[in-house]
Amino acid sequence: MKVFFIGAGPGAHDLITVRGAKILERAPMVMYAGSLVPRAVLCHCRADAEIIDTASLDLDQQEACYRRAQAEGIDVARLHSGDPAIYGATAEQMRRLEKLGIAYEVVPGVSSFTAAAASLGSELTRPAVSQTVILTRVSGRASVVPERERLGDLARSGATLCVFLSGPHLKRIVADLSAHYSPDTPVALVYRASWPDERSHRSTLGRLLREIRLRDWRLTTLLLVGGALGREPGLESRLYAAEYPHIFRPARKQGRRPRARQTPAPGADGADR
Ligand SMILES: C[S@@+](CC[C@H](N)C(=O)[O-])C[C@H]1O[C@@H](n2cnc3c(N)ncnc32)[C@H](O)[C@@H]1O
Repeated sequence: MKVFFIGAGPGAHDLITVRGAKILERAPMVMYAGSLVPRAVLCHCRADAEIIDTASLDLDQQEACYRRAQAEGIDVARLHSGDPAIYGATAEQMRRLEKLGIAYEVVPGVSSFTAAAASLGSELTRPAVSQTVILTRVSGRASVVPERERLGDLARSGATLCVFLSGPHLKRIVADLSAHYSPDTPVALVYRASWPDERSHRSTLGRLLREIRLRDWRLTTLLLVGGALGREPGLESRLYAAEYPHIFRPARKQGRRPRARQTPAPGADGADR
């Protein structure tokens, strides 16, 4: 008997991994965080699976489900939104499973911050603008953010910031960010990336709060900020530049046609991006 923590992805039923979907196809018991994982993802479950929405269960009640599955000798698929490693509250479940002597395995998923970038058609890293992505949140009732990770301090880096669980705190977030990013820094809100009712709003830090109604962005919203989100043509990576040779695309002799793809020597590093 085993518990599989599976990243359900950001919402669309076909953004779960093939491995995750295959485990769902055979799991007799499925526990899912109904507040964030849409029922559409459950289409991968077998018809007779016992489906448990954990949104209203505390940790002891969830442990009781694991104990029951252990007694019955059946596997459990435990679905978490996005990737289970990010704000998934999986660590405490894993500690309980270890105490019970129950084996577990994690199947990663598409996190909502990459789904949000996809929805915006944006790359989060751009040469000489930002090569760092910070995933963070503001303190909530359930989880305290350490002082040293205050948004204002993270903003000092000028990196691309993805602020999870941001919906109810947009005013505070914009105020904290504005201490370090200029008012014309690109910012975007993405609500329910990949869900049928997905929407997004692009703006700048200085304008955002004047352009939106706060109540429209309270739940399941990600805020992304940073120069990398800008759409103006900027510096390009050298990776695809014609005059930039590397191990997978050696320098071409003038007038010669490119040769068929070469396999790099075993152990050779990839191109230096
Ligand atoms: C408890 S966290 C879970 C994050 C999740 N583990 C992940 O990797 O995306 C919940 C927050 O993730 C963000 N989120 C989750 N799914 C989202 C989606 N489809 N679109 C936008 N934001 C999403 C929102 O900020 C939401 O408040």
